[in-house]
Amino acid sequence: MTLIEGPVGDLSERMRIVAVANQKGGVGKTTVAMQLGAALSRRHRVLVVDVDRQRSTVWWAENMRDRLPFDFAGDQNPKLLGRLRELRAEYDFVVVDTPGSLEDTPVLERVLDAADTVVIPLIPEPLAVEPTMRTINRLIEPRALRHAVLLNRIDARIPSQLPVWRDLLDTVWGVPRFDAYLRQYKAQTDAPIHGHMVTTLRDNRRTRGAIFDITQVGLEVAAQATPALAAGW
Ligand SMILES: Nc1ncnc2c1ncn2[C@@H]1O[C@H](COP(=O)(O)OP(=O)(O)OP(=O)(O)O)[C@@H](O)[C@H]1O
Ligand SMILES: [Mg+2]
Repeated sequence: MTLIEGPVGDLSERMRIVAVANQKGGVGKTTVAMQLGAALSRRHRVLVVDVDRQRSTVWWAENMRDRLPFDFAGDQNPKLLGRLRELRAEYDFVVVDTPGSLEDTPVLERVLDAADTVVIPLIPEPLAVEPTMRTINRLIEPRALRHAVLLNRIDARIPSQLPVWRDLLDTVWGVPRFDAYLRQYKAQTDAPIHGHMVTTLRDNRRTRGAIFDITQVGLEVAAQATPALAAGW
C-alpha cells in the first residue's frame, strides 16, 4: 500500500516543489535529491536546489561537469525559496536537498513552508526511526503536506528486511510510504566520486539494480506529486 497524505492542491499549476527531508542525518537525503533529480529529468524539466551548509551536492555537481542532467542551484538562501514559484514557467519539478541536523531546523522549516510534497528517506536501522517520526509529527504533519517515507539502503541479501520494514511503517507507525525503494549499491555510494548519477552510468550488471531502483522512485514521485502529469506516463 502506498499513500501520500495531504491536500492535492491546484493541479493546473505544473511546477511541484519536492523537499527531501529527515532530521536524522545520513539517511540518504543528498543521494535521493540528486538521483531523483536525475531520474525526473529524463521526462521533466528539473531544478535541484541545495540549502544545506554541508554543500555535498555542490561538490558532486561540480564533479559531474557537463553530465549534470538538470539545472542546479547550490548554496541557496532558504529565504529565497518562497520565490521559487516565480520559476513555474521553467520547471516541472524543483527538488530541494535539506540539512539533517537539529540546529538547522529553521532552514528545514522554510523549505517545508515552500514545498508541495516531501520525500522522507529512511534507512532500516532502529536508531533512525525516532528522529524520522519526530520530523513527520512535528514539522510535516502540522503543515498538512503530502509526504511519504522512502526506504533506502535496503540490503538485498536479507530477504526479510524489506517486508519487515514495510510492515512496521504500515501497521506499527502508520506513516505513508512509497512502494519504490532503494537498495544498497556501491554504484550509489561511488557515483559522486566518479562524477556521475546512477542514471548517467552505463547500464551493466553492476549498475542495473541501482538504475532500476531510482527510475521506479522517479516514476512514483512524479505520479504522486502530480497525478495530472502521471496520466502521461
Ligand atoms: N542506496 C544507497 N546505496 C549505497 N550507499 C548509499 C545509498 N544511499 C545513501 N548512500 C550513502 O550513504 C551515505 C549518506 O548518504 P547521504 O549523504 O545522501 O545522507 P544525508 O541524509 O544527506 O546525510 P546528511 O544528513 O549528513 O546530509 C553516503 O555515503 C551515501 O553515498
Ligand atoms: Mg545531505
